[in-house]
Amino acid sequence: MDQKHDHANQILSLLENNESINSLQISQTTGVNHQELVGYLLQLEAANYIITEGLKKDQLVLTEEGNTILNSQSGEYEIYQKVPEGGIQMVDLQKQFGIEQAPKQKQEQGEKKEKQAEDPKKKLFDLGFGNAKKMGYIKMDKGIISKVANDLPDKIKQELQQFNEIKLGSPQAKLLIERKLASISTIKYFEVKKGVKYSPKFREQFAALTTEQLLNGEWKDCDYKSINLNAEGEKISMGNLHPLLKVRKQFSQILIGLGFEEMATNQFVESSFWNFDALFQPQKHPARDAHDTFFCSDPELSEEVDTQLRDKVKSMHQTGGVGSIGYQYEWSHEEARKNILRTHTTAVSSKMLYRIAQQYKEKGYFPKKYFSIDKVFRNETLDATHLAEFHQIEGVVIDKNASLGQLMGIIREFFRQIGINKLWFKPTYNPYTEPSMEIYGYHPILKKKVEIGNSGVFRPEMLAPLGIPEDVNVIAWGLGLERPTMIYYDIRDIRTMVGPEVKVETVRSNAFCVFESK
Ligand code: PHE
Repeated sequence: MDQKHDHANQILSLLENNESINSLQISQTTGVNHQELVGYLLQLEAANYIITEGLKKDQLVLTEEGNTILNSQSGEYEIYQKVPEGGIQMVDLQKQFGIEQAPKQKQEQGEKKEKQAEDPKKKLFDLGFGNAKKMGYIKMDKGIISKVANDLPDKIKQELQQFNEIKLGSPQAKLLIERKLASISTIKYFEVKKGVKYSPKFREQFAALTTEQLLNGEWKDCDYKSINLNAEGEKISMGNLHPLLKVRKQFSQILIGLGFEEMATNQFVESSFWNFDALFQPQKHPARDAHDTFFCSDPELSEEVDTQLRDKVKSMHQTGGVGSIGYQYEWSHEEARKNILRTHTTAVSSKMLYRIAQQYKEKGYFPKKYFSIDKVFRNETLDATHLAEFHQIEGVVIDKNASLGQLMGIIREFFRQIGINKLWFKPTYNPYTEPSMEIYGYHPILKKKVEIGNSGVFRPEMLAPLGIPEDVNVIAWGLGLERPTMIYYDIRDIRTMVGPEVKVETVRSNAFCVFESK
């Protein structure tokens, strides 16, 4: 703490008579290592005593080899010193450097020769020897190496001792770089100026005003840290909803806000009866094929539904009613009992409609708005946009006055609340609705028209067998949960949204709310 203060005061007093001073100069005059100094500077800047500007420049620095020479001697000088007064033969000089001569005959074998040439000691010696000759330390005469003169100085070492005076770009610097004794390195430093709170003496800044300081009047002489209103609070570690659940929650809130009640959806295994037959979907409809539907093997068949209901559905399929001639085929009881994983949430709606019709018998007619959001299953090949299990959102309105116009109105309002304002309806075919409409929306992020749902008015052929009175209309629409979630959370591959591929960190950091209505 005290040392920190001392350094801070040293820096501040250096600035007292200077407009600006750089951190390298400060480091040199104070003797504080540059890296450590930067820490003090940042603290002083945070307290507004100083302002700093980051700068960088190239500097000549000694390489490891340069440093070694500076601390002992150069290679050529070492050779020079090992040459005795009367001269020496090459073999003997090399021996002094630990270089062994290979026996003659072996030298002739190519392989060995190569090995010797690679000897790093020999390489270093050859280099030093060459330089010692070039620099006029030694000479060679008839195989005898001798000193040119006695008591020559180590010129390289002398040069390195003057290293601090060598300017970048000078011929001396170039030579040192060439000889790999120095290199250029970029250093970062700061230009330091006085800040708004500058004073030559550093006063400790308190983080908070204490009762004590207030009571004894110390506060008058204290400096307080300014409050950083942009500081983030400490991250709270807690559970987070998966993106699908976040979107699901928002959808259900929107629907609840529009007066819809949630249906119980906790039954993944459903009989074909509720998923298909009760929806007036013929038994030979391609969607019932094993390619699209997961059939259960154990138990393969579901329990009987109410026989009266079953017979009504059967006769509607076979011969029709309510102005329809039906599909004119032999309806199989067994086929309807086949257990499957529900392929759409409309299976939940059909069951609910039957229940409502039962209640009508006791209580008489009442209008109702229902919704569901849950998993459905289809035997799809998995890819970036398809999973074998996904979620559907479905809304159903049971009302004597329900009309196609009302359906379009509700759909518009629903999508408006998730930020999709431009909608298009396109006629389509569903076995259970007539008219049926695909819903397209202008995607504000993708900036194009995309299919976002399917809808329609439930057919009398479906409603009559369930017991819904003829004057009661039922309108409904459905959409997937995954597509909007992927779009709003920018998830490119649906497979990263489920199972082990889910990144817990993104689940944590994802926005709490994604939809914005205009
Ligand atoms: N069940 C339809 C589907 O799976 C959606 C839908 C629901 C259509 C209700 C019309 C009415 O795509």
